[in-house]
Amino acid sequence: MTAGKRWVLARRPDGVPCTDDFRLEDTTLPGLQDGQALIRVDHISVDPGMRSRLSGDSYAPALDIGATIESAGVGHVIASRSQKLKEGALVWGGFGWQTHLITDGRGVQALDPALYTGKITPTSAIGLFGIPGLTAFFGLLEIGKPRAGNTVLVSSAAGTVGATAGQIAKMKGCTVVGITGSDAKCAYLKEIGFDASINHRTCGDLAAAFRAAAPKGYDIYFDNVGGEMLDAAIVNMRRHGRLVISGQIAEYNAREPRGIRHTLPFITQRLRMEGLVVYDHAVQFDEARRQMAEWVNEGKLTWREEIIEGIEKAPEAFIGLFRGDSFGRRLVRVA
Ligand SMILES: NC(=O)c1ccc[n+]([C@@H]2O[C@H](COP(=O)([O-])OP(=O)(O)OC[C@H]3O[C@@H](n4cnc5c(N)ncnc54)[C@H](OP(=O)(O)O)[C@@H]3O)[C@@H](O)[C@H]2O)c1
Repeated sequence: MTAGKRWVLARRPDGVPCTDDFRLEDTTLPGLQDGQALIRVDHISVDPGMRSRLSGDSYAPALDIGATIESAGVGHVIASRSQKLKEGALVWGGFGWQTHLITDGRGVQALDPALYTGKITPTSAIGLFGIPGLTAFFGLLEIGKPRAGNTVLVSSAAGTVGATAGQIAKMKGCTVVGITGSDAKCAYLKEIGFDASINHRTCGDLAAAFRAAAPKGYDIYFDNVGGEMLDAAIVNMRRHGRLVISGQIAEYNAREPRGIRHTLPFITQRLRMEGLVVYDHAVQFDEARRQMAEWVNEGKLTWREEIIEGIEKAPEAFIGLFRGDSFGRRLVRVA
């Protein structure tokens, strides 16, 4: 028997989530059966995309009331009766907000020591080399189709998805402008190679600020935010521009979506807008990880992590994403 803790969904949030929407429960896990392994979770993620599933169906079904909050996680196998997962192995998977879990090995992978070595840390398996980094990789390359000389605008650019998309665009020979919510985050974007940055909290009129940063307009808008920012980007797109819809964090807590107001530029500028679900590219994930590892080892790609201490803080860490108080990949250290 192993004692642990887990966060469950106590009720469906109305608007911006609050801590009472979640409940921390004690758990007792039984002994292992043949084929099973016990994992102690070390780090879990908090992800903006989880918000939709707390209220209803998204690209994955709604989370049930009383269910463990789902998330990515990294941990260690601490006991095993499984051929696949050896005791002591460092593993990652969709572990959820809990301290321990028993698994039959499905959806759990040992970290490849050939990849996770040197500056590529185990926690990057659920950051740059996990869903956020892969979303940037496939969103930018498959939908944005950057070409040398293009100008690219990225929203929530200091987050893992945005910062990765911007750095890949730079490698493809683009000029890159990032939008973010503080001067410290703007300075970080410069450090990692963005050509310009816009603080959306202080810039005043968004469309005018986007125009001032790139008077000839943008070929690609990589959108993590939606809402007003998306409209301000649409009116600044160049002919044959591509809008990559990665995320819409400004809409996740809205009872009614704001919607897009500026549709005429889609005709006049021959624009295309396309969303993605990164899991549709799953068969190419390993290839993308190898490419990103090469870029990291060549010093062309970097990432930023922010670790919040203690599983008790998971709901607050999650809620903070919607206030803009996260900076880079936000993880919670469980143990
Ligand atoms: N399509 C897919 O398959 C897929 C997969 C993974 C993630 N995503 C999406 O990709 C996006 C980025 O993910 P991420 O993990 O890197 O998270 P992230 O961008 O770090 O998200 C948190 C940040 O979003 C910004 N933000 C929050 N509310 C905002 C608002 N109302 N207006 C403007 N900015 C706001 C804040 O940064 P500032 O301080 O800069 O405002 C905040 O720190 C998310 O929307 C996520 O849902 C999509």
